[in-house]
Amino acid sequence: MKNIKLAMPSLKDARMRKNKKIPTIRYHLDEKYQYLGKGKTYSIFTYGCQGNEADSEVMAGILEQIGYVKSLDAMNADIVILNTCAIRENAEQRIWGVLGQLKGKKRENPDMIVGICGCMPQEENATNKILESYDFIDLVFGTHNKQNLPRLIYEAYMTKSKVVEVISSEGEILEEAPKIRELHHKAWVNIMYGCDEFCTYCIVPYTRGKERSRAKEDIIQEVETLVESGYSEITLLGQNVNAYGKDLGSGYTFGDLLYDLDQTGIQRIRFTTSHPRDLDEKTMQAMHDCKSVMPHLHLPVQSGDNEILKKMNRKYTCEEYLSKVRRLKELVPDLALTTDIIVGFPNETEEQFQNTIKLVEAAEFEGAYTFIYSKREGTPAASMPDSISEQEKHERLTLLNQYINKGYLAGHQRFLNQIVEVLVDGPSKNGEGMMCGYTKHLKLTHFKSNDLSLVGKMVKVKITEAKTWFMIGELCE
Ligand code: 5AD
Ligand code: SF4
Repeated sequence: MKNIKLAMPSLKDARMRKNKKIPTIRYHLDEKYQYLGKGKTYSIFTYGCQGNEADSEVMAGILEQIGYVKSLDAMNADIVILNTCAIRENAEQRIWGVLGQLKGKKRENPDMIVGICGCMPQEENATNKILESYDFIDLVFGTHNKQNLPRLIYEAYMTKSKVVEVISSEGEILEEAPKIRELHHKAWVNIMYGCDEFCTYCIVPYTRGKERSRAKEDIIQEVETLVESGYSEITLLGQNVNAYGKDLGSGYTFGDLLYDLDQTGIQRIRFTTSHPRDLDEKTMQAMHDCKSVMPHLHLPVQSGDNEILKKMNRKYTCEEYLSKVRRLKELVPDLALTTDIIVGFPNETEEQFQNTIKLVEAAEFEGAYTFIYSKREGTPAASMPDSISEQEKHERLTLLNQYINKGYLAGHQRFLNQIVEVLVDGPSKNGEGMMCGYTKHLKLTHFKSNDLSLVGKMVKVKITEAKTWFMIGELCE
């Protein structure tokens, strides 16, 4: 297939941070594309973080606006889009595997359009590999230009070529794009895009660009509309939500936003992800003052050793981390705290790893995403010497998880015999006649019921059993 390279990724450009104001653009569909998908079907496969899930909801909105309908057979749609994740090697391996399957499908149906977007195409290596070895892919685009999807599809149909458009400078802020939300009671709400932290192991500042915040008016209006449409819960999204507003320079911060959103009438507000250095007193106060802000915080610590934290460029010490946790627990005594931890950062010693275990015990986490360090080409950590064997890294992960799992269990046990409020998601996979949902503290809870009309409602459940991964309870009348 011929290649049309409208823009190619560049890690060098992606690393740059210019001090210019990021424009907000209002989505507009060119009339030329309005019937492009008429009579055709689409499917989107989403990998990685909630940011990708939110992006896929926008792409679904754009595709439906131009006439596509969601395919009932995801692998056999007229257009199949893979929204990818580049955070770790194994995330990428999965995607190369799915692409292998799609190759066969495309052979059966040569008119099918296969697109790949999201974080992987932002990496030079990945895009080069797609161009060299994945000839059947029609569309390659990045994280900054999903609004151009109709034009890119049009080009691919008209030219029968592979169309590549991956922009590496920071994207604009897209407002008013159509969106098909996956759920009708819980919604993702982007408050900012990009990341300027440059933790040395992380590819995100390169794949998602400069930190840029949405105007507070646009966010508040989106949440007000969600409330009017019957939504009960929102999760505010950003790579580092605590940096919200810094780029706008108005002095309005994440804490201010929480106070304002509390006034909209939304019942539950969650947010992810927080950075320990930027988590400020006002945000903690808001967690105490605002009834709708849930008593759960995901605060990635990454390591419990100060030297490793320094090498990671995290810009805080374990002592500072624990002191913020203590302050927060003064303000929100029943807080559920979860975290992210990486083991096997280049040359992490046994002692440094043991420091992480000590911090896990001190912080009393009630859950964590734990990872083995994965080398990401182009990041500073990729060129750090590393003499720790793969086996050692796996052993550390296993040991760490034993401590983390104890925390999960303790986090559930503390609710035994209590009545908790559950926002019902739907039938549970935990057996016939069971429904499930999450509590305020983000604890997955199963209870006996067949009543589908409860989906999206808040119910009271008395907790009767606490397991490592969930709680079981009885519906209160
Ligand atoms: N290797 C392992 N884990 C990583 N994370 C980010 N980059 C890497 C990497 N190169 C983890 C961090 C982050 C979470 C989203 O993914 O813990 O908080
Ligand atoms: Fe990656 Fe650090 Fe930014 Fe999180 S804060 S996205 S870990 S660079």
